[in-house]
Amino acid sequence: MIIAANLKTNLTRSATHKYIKQVQTCTQNSSQEVIVLPATSSLDSYKTDITIGVQNAYPVEHGAFTGEIGLEHLNEFAIKTILIGHSERRHILGETQELIVKKFDYFKEQGFKIIYCVGEPLEIRERSHEEVLMYIHNQFEGIDTEYENLIIAYEPVWAIGTGKVPTLEDIQNVHNELTKKSSAPLLYGGSVKVNNVKDILKVGNVNGVLVGSAALNAESFCSIIQVADELEKN
Ligand code: 13P
Repeated sequence: MIIAANLKTNLTRSATHKYIKQVQTCTQNSSQEVIVLPATSSLDSYKTDITIGVQNAYPVEHGAFTGEIGLEHLNEFAIKTILIGHSERRHILGETQELIVKKFDYFKEQGFKIIYCVGEPLEIRERSHEEVLMYIHNQFEGIDTEYENLIIAYEPVWAIGTGKVPTLEDIQNVHNELTKKSSAPLLYGGSVKVNNVKDILKVGNVNGVLVGSAALNAESFCSIIQVADELEKN
């Protein structure tokens, strides 16, 4: 399974060093694919088997894009994994589908592993299941869903950072639909915690989780990885 930590705007570089060291230690005997996405200013040359990726980058090698980083900055740390389309970038930072597609195409061209996020806001969820599927369908506009290095993360906007999680049936329904669109591994994200991750990972067509708040603490993230290991053993 794929167990990913999105550290968002948290953990300084020194805190991230400590964090990665702890996660490295706890994953020594783990068979999970573990991915950690630190804050941009916390990128560094980490000596670890864990995959380190970025939460965002501009689709350019370098240039005049104030506040952004480009391929050159990722190459400095041999980073080959990127998160694209996260709801916080879509909804808080106003990233359009057009820009998201540009990022996708650019980093696909560079052979990056792309974790592509989709997910509906609450008002859509409250309308109907069909509306949810339609909304998600539109978030794939311009995206090559058969890209070989693609991972898809389903993260309902209303479940992110709220402690609210869709029913297991709703997760399964969306993930089943996603399998019709792509053969990529499918992650669920949104209020995944140590105490609900087992049930979520048992849902059909859930191949892993993308964790925010509960991953900020290395011990808690390690417990989530351990749950995945135990599930695979049984
Ligand atoms: P939370 O786990 O804090 O809900 O965040 C999920 C998320 O946005 C991961 O990308």
